[in-house]
Amino acid sequence: MAGFGNSTQAVYSTVRELVENSLDACEDAQRLPRIRVDIESSISDTLTVTVADNGTGVPHNQVPEAFGRVLYGSKYDRRQKRGTFGLGVTMAVLHGQITTDSPVLVHTRDDKSSGMAYKILVDIEQNVPIVEE
Ligand SMILES: Nc1ncnc2c1ncn2[C@@H]1O[C@H](COP(=O)(O)OP(=O)(O)O)[C@@H](O)[C@H]1O
Ligand SMILES: [Mg+2]
Repeated sequence: MAGFGNSTQAVYSTVRELVENSLDACEDAQRLPRIRVDIESSISDTLTVTVADNGTGVPHNQVPEAFGRVLYGSKYDRRQKRGTFGLGVTMAVLHGQITTDSPVLVHTRDDKSSGMAYKILVDIEQNVPIVEE
């Protein structure tokens, strides 16, 4: 997995993919970015990376595809504007899944509601999202 060859690279690539998406989403929303990055170590040598932003958010019906399918082609909005290479955020999801056996947690909301949260895994054989919860 390019960019995920060792743990240091993996953390770097994960943060980069997530922050690039946050910057894109804030630009789309035409808001100055407020992006929070947390990297926490938890039990048994595992790191949890959390990125939160004040961008557009993700339409609920697009969350599984956007985060659970590698090379998700049919974007509903504009394509990535930042970064030069990379297979997108699903690569980070996949790496986390393979190394920790844990899903990604995606929470998206607008100003009016508390939104929706999803736990997503990638079905590696079929390259389709599995919504665990
Ligand atoms: N923080 C975010 N805010 C809004 N939309 C997001 C966010 N992260 C991901 N997305 C959506 O998920 C899609 C897939 O992300 P990604 O795989 O990184 O591809 P890319 O950034 O090349 O479009 C993005 O195109 C975007 O529509
Ligand atoms: Mg991206």
